[in-house]
Amino acid sequence: MAENRSIHGQWSSRLMFVLAASGSAVGLGNIWKFPYITGENGGGAFVLVYLACIALVGLPIMMAEVMLGRRGRQSPINTMADLASEAKASQIWRLLGWLGVVAGFIILSYYSVIAGWAIAYVVRSAAGTFTNVTADGVESIFGALVGDWERLLAWHTLFMVMSMLVVARGVHHGLEKAVRVLMPALLVLLLILVGYAFNTGHFQQGFDFLFKPDFSKVFYQCETIAGAQSCSFTGEPLLVAMGHAFFTLSLGMGAIMVYGSYMPRKSSIAGASILIAIMDTVVALLAGLAIFPIVFANELAPGAGPGLIFQTLPIAFGAMPGGRFFATLFFLLLVFAAWTSAISLIEPAVAWLVEKRQVSRTRASIACGFTAWLLGIGTVLSFNVWSGEEYQLFGKTLFDLLDFLTANIMLPLGGLLIAIFAGWVMTRQASADELRMNNAGYAAWRFVIRYITPLAVVLVFLKAIGVL
Ligand code: TRP
Repeated sequence: MAENRSIHGQWSSRLMFVLAASGSAVGLGNIWKFPYITGENGGGAFVLVYLACIALVGLPIMMAEVMLGRRGRQSPINTMADLASEAKASQIWRLLGWLGVVAGFIILSYYSVIAGWAIAYVVRSAAGTFTNVTADGVESIFGALVGDWERLLAWHTLFMVMSMLVVARGVHHGLEKAVRVLMPALLVLLLILVGYAFNTGHFQQGFDFLFKPDFSKVFYQCETIAGAQSCSFTGEPLLVAMGHAFFTLSLGMGAIMVYGSYMPRKSSIAGASILIAIMDTVVALLAGLAIFPIVFANELAPGAGPGLIFQTLPIAFGAMPGGRFFATLFFLLLVFAAWTSAISLIEPAVAWLVEKRQVSRTRASIACGFTAWLLGIGTVLSFNVWSGEEYQLFGKTLFDLLDFLTANIMLPLGGLLIAIFAGWVMTRQASADELRMNNAGYAAWRFVIRYITPLAVVLVFLKAIGVL
């Protein structure tokens, strides 16, 4: 299997793999989700757990996923089937591929709705809606958008069509070229925003919120009962932090695996993975540094939820010189970042359809896009028609539930299985041959993927459900 190329094509260079995989990793997860869940979960201690998860769980699993993909050279489902045969293991490992395909559909369904918000904000920014806007103003603009399901549906539809157009064209065209320019541009714009926050926001307070861990605030819920305070440990932030490490690095559902299957044989997997993880983390932290100083300067609530960036950044843009231009550019780049992520969510399913049913990429993309679009209607309605308590389960809307199910359960579970497969099922020779690291590096990776990573995932699960 060594020299096989994938039938779906191949990246033109190692750099293209790194760019495409960072295009997948850097997205709404970094700029929209990271700040809002950090705000909801009390800041610093949460960020610290998240960073630990990136290093101990995310990075080793990313290497494993790329490795499996490059060795199998097919969609995750068929890759897992082949690699299981190679290792003389059960064909049940195919199910790992299926788990990923299902998770991809669900994530894309709500991802597209949120990306739709970003498109709506491009239009509002360009129209000058945010010029000198107040905190109240920006809140009612956001409320009017998400309260109107017809508008949300229209933007969701537009984003899904955009994504399917790129997926239909395949690996080389469009995709490769787009990331090369857009990613650096996004980084520059984030730096401008951090600069603004530094000069005008409550920067110190925002910085402390992100980087001064206070474990008692995050992991202990305290109540005062009859004058006496009683605190109990709560594991959910732990699970959310770990789940987000998977989400932000695009791990656990075969997206990175399928991108790895288009990677040239010669490239170093470890080097590429480290680069991607660093870039992804830098973007998320910059987004946090841009947002929280503005949150505190305007006395907004850090725990405002999914609307956080849409209710804070426009205030900054509205007040800065050239803000209309910068705002438009920023939300445009956010849409692009979401775009390059969305295509990776559906690629495993499309690749499988092309292999299995021998349908064209175009048909496969339309079928998958339509399915995810239909599912997305549930998320569209979660913010308006179905937002009431009578439509909630465990205090969560359908959108919250889908997000929790995928990011905090399906992805870590997929990642756990990937770690077990790469560390225990696959032969040492096969993984060493594919990773081609020096001895010390390989030994370290193997130790972490066999013991540390699975243990960490299982412990977090157990802690979160209160068993430990
Ligand atoms: N990582 C992307 C983000 O942070 C989202 C994403 C793309 C994703 N592909 C994925 C998440 C695969 C989980 C699995 O926005």
